[in-house]
Amino acid sequence: MSHVVISRRLPFPAVDRLAAAHDVVTWEEDRPIPADALRELCTDAEGLLCMLTDRVDAALLSAAPRLRAVAVYAVGTDNVDRAAARAHAIAVGNTPDVLTEATADIAFALLLAAARRLPEAAEDVRAGRWQTWTPDGWLGLELHGATLGIIGAGRIGQAVARRGAGFGMEIITARPLAVEEVLERADVVSLHVPLTAQTRHLIDAAALARMKPGAILVNTARGPIVDQVALADALHRGHLGAAALDVTDPEPLSPDDPLLAAPNVIVLPHIGSATHVTRARMADLAVDNLLAALDGRPMPHPVAL
Ligand code: DGY
Repeated sequence: MSHVVISRRLPFPAVDRLAAAHDVVTWEEDRPIPADALRELCTDAEGLLCMLTDRVDAALLSAAPRLRAVAVYAVGTDNVDRAAARAHAIAVGNTPDVLTEATADIAFALLLAAARRLPEAAEDVRAGRWQTWTPDGWLGLELHGATLGIIGAGRIGQAVARRGAGFGMEIITARPLAVEEVLERADVVSLHVPLTAQTRHLIDAAALARMKPGAILVNTARGPIVDQVALADALHRGHLGAAALDVTDPEPLSPDDPLLAAPNVIVLPHIGSATHVTRARMADLAVDNLLAALDGRPMPHPVAL
């Protein structure tokens, strides 16, 4: 039996499998565990099941000398310092595949909401501004025949592309095309790259300037891929038609963040994978990863370090 820490309550059956095999301690508060509390909780831990909100860095790994395995409850693992994990010989796993369709649904929901101006139209109804049917009220982008540019054609990018094709959109992707060409040709750009040193601020002022006037930017990947100051500016100037984001920098976004004062911006609270089925499956994969590693076997869903 190993000592295992779970950094947030996970109300899914997979946790019972973990608790049946190991001595599990869970951070019970309904907020991300502070870094110092996580270090303290992990002092004797051999396994850690952590959230994307937890930094797994040299400070944590040095404070947890017995730690052998970290299962991240997410597909994105930018919260893990890979060099530190390598240096401490930690096996790291994630939860690929199971959240692809749910996340692609949210990307497409954002795309539709922005293209057809749903938040604004719904708000006008509530506020009593809907006086009559009008020939030119709430006009938006027709998806059929529009060009959808996918940046990051991994599993989620491909799933969004399939949805776009179903709506009669022309799909273009960065690889084989250059990112610049996708930005210049697309009516809607959807981001699906992992956050790395190379992709941080990939969509900066210059990239936004390349986008077509009136184009829509959708981000369901990671907030720091977009330079939010430049994005707010592009929206204020009316160069971009809209931005629809499930991820921001930072998270959560403060209600008085300047981005929220920009026109035509939709921000969701990072709910790409938030369906009952997907979150339970993510717990299954995270637990499978920990059970394997603590048993001395390779993780079924390892992250290359
Ligand atoms: C992930 O898994 O990386 C998502 O952002 C959260 O579900």
